[in-house]
Amino acid sequence: MHYDTNLRNHGLKFDPFKALAVPRPIGWIATVDRDGVPNLAPYSFFNAVSDRPPMVMFSSGGHKDSLRNIEATGEFTCSLATYDLREQMNMSSAPVAHGVDEFGLSGLTAAASVHVRPPRVAESPAAFECRHWKTLEMPAPADGKAEPFIVVFGLVVGIYINDDFIHDGLVDTPAMRPLARLGYMDYSVLTPETVFSLNRPMASEDGRSATLVPGPWDGVYR
Ligand SMILES: Cc1cc2nc3c(=O)[nH]c(=O)nc-3n(C[C@H](O)[C@H](O)[C@H](O)COP(=O)(O)O)c2cc1C
Repeated sequence: MHYDTNLRNHGLKFDPFKALAVPRPIGWIATVDRDGVPNLAPYSFFNAVSDRPPMVMFSSGGHKDSLRNIEATGEFTCSLATYDLREQMNMSSAPVAHGVDEFGLSGLTAAASVHVRPPRVAESPAAFECRHWKTLEMPAPADGKAEPFIVVFGLVVGIYINDDFIHDGLVDTPAMRPLARLGYMDYSVLTPETVFSLNRPMASEDGRSATLVPGPWDGVYR
């Protein structure tokens, strides 16, 4: 099949777009409002967009509390949402009133950050501390009814890693069992069994062919 996203003539039960843009990491965004009240919510329109300097983005469907707080205070954290924390992550997405602290609502502990005022999720094995860089409004939706998405970019100024997940000088990401968002209400989880590595190909001197060291990663960045 093929469909036109403007006409939305897919004939399926639900719009399939998000079921195809997979797997998406979940940015578990914590902010504080002007009075210092914490807010926490998951965002799967989330990713890293640069590593020099480290930068992340998330996209808010209209002006939600996370976006409003970042506009007011200029800071946020992103904690890693893991399989062990899936119920709490889900509960923190409840559309409760502004000023309700989703850390408490979800039974989570707020741990102080080093560089920014918003806390991180203490139970999560890793978190980015971010300063707001830019906000970019996406095009208006075709139906003209809903608010557009608004993308927030942040500069990562500090990173927390639970030392238990550092082995032989490397972060053991699969041991953290990070969640991935799929389409519909589906999720997946990264586990040691599903991880593999590859060596990067190297171009020949004349740039017309490429070779690679076969097998798993030999530990050299190319
Ligand atoms: C796994 C997951 C991913 C989500 N991703 C997004 C997203 O990318 N953008 C968005 O606007 N809402 C997303 N939501 C919904 C928000 O979490 C929800 O609207 C929340 O109430 C927003 O909270 P806030 O107003 O405190 O920022 C997601 C919900 C879940 C459970």
